[in-house]
Amino acid sequence: MSQGQRPGRDRDGPSHVAVIMDGNGRWAQMRGLPRQEGHRRGLEALRRTVKNAGELGIEILTLYSFSTENWRRPPAEVSFLLGLLKRFVDKDLAELHAAGVRVRIIGARLDLAPELRHLVERAEAMTRDNTAMLLVVAFNYGSRDEIARAAARLAGEVAAGRLAAEAIDETLLSSRLDTADLPDPELVIRTSGEMRISNFLLWQAAYAEFVFTPVLWPDFDRAALEAALAEYGRRERRFGGLGDPIDRAVGAA
Ligand code: FPP
Repeated sequence: MSQGQRPGRDRDGPSHVAVIMDGNGRWAQMRGLPRQEGHRRGLEALRRTVKNAGELGIEILTLYSFSTENWRRPPAEVSFLLGLLKRFVDKDLAELHAAGVRVRIIGARLDLAPELRHLVERAEAMTRDNTAMLLVVAFNYGSRDEIARAAARLAGEVAAGRLAAEAIDETLLSSRLDTADLPDPELVIRTSGEMRISNFLLWQAAYAEFVFTPVLWPDFDRAALEAALAEYGRRERRFGGLGDPIDRAVGAA
């Protein structure tokens, strides 16, 4: 595993947890409510999860909020989700900042409307020195797109003569991803019973444990998060090795 990109420390629990927040639409449908209501309640679950994660000692929480594929949804739903991101940054930023949360956005930000881009840049700038917890919001994010952008950047550097093609290795490619400098997630949780990765952190989750829960995202609460962490605690992580104690110690170092 390349330096700097191995999963975070394996203490009692994972230090970096990533979540595919799924099931907002079904949550609403089951109650005869519009899908928008599911997303609104999803934002409440998101707020709750940030707080719970901090209290449970999770250092980095990455949330899949809007994928590059989500643009295919009806325009009204897309603009509702964009509005939720705006509302989240507008309304929650001060509180997150006060709680010492650093915010980072990953995804194709250059494709976002300037207003939205400035908003996320403001959130990052304001919270850049916070250390209590890192909240990574994946917005307009697709893993293949991220890897392709990283490859294009490296190709540009080679073409400009700043980099030798032979120097490109896992560490260098990692350093051009949106998640550069972040440890890989040890745990990826997906809600709503779906068992797919859906173009999320394909590179970074190479050695992650996956926990799939039937809980729909708007219902995801502290007990559900604790259950996922407990399940993670029961997994034996081998990183491609044989799982003997020495091997595990090297993997987790
Ligand atoms: C999946 O549910 C969820 C999303 C596509 C968006 C996630 C958004 C939130 C949790 C709200 C907060 C948003 C931001 C931008 C901060 P789904 O609609 O795919 O549900 P379904 O599979 O049941 O239809």
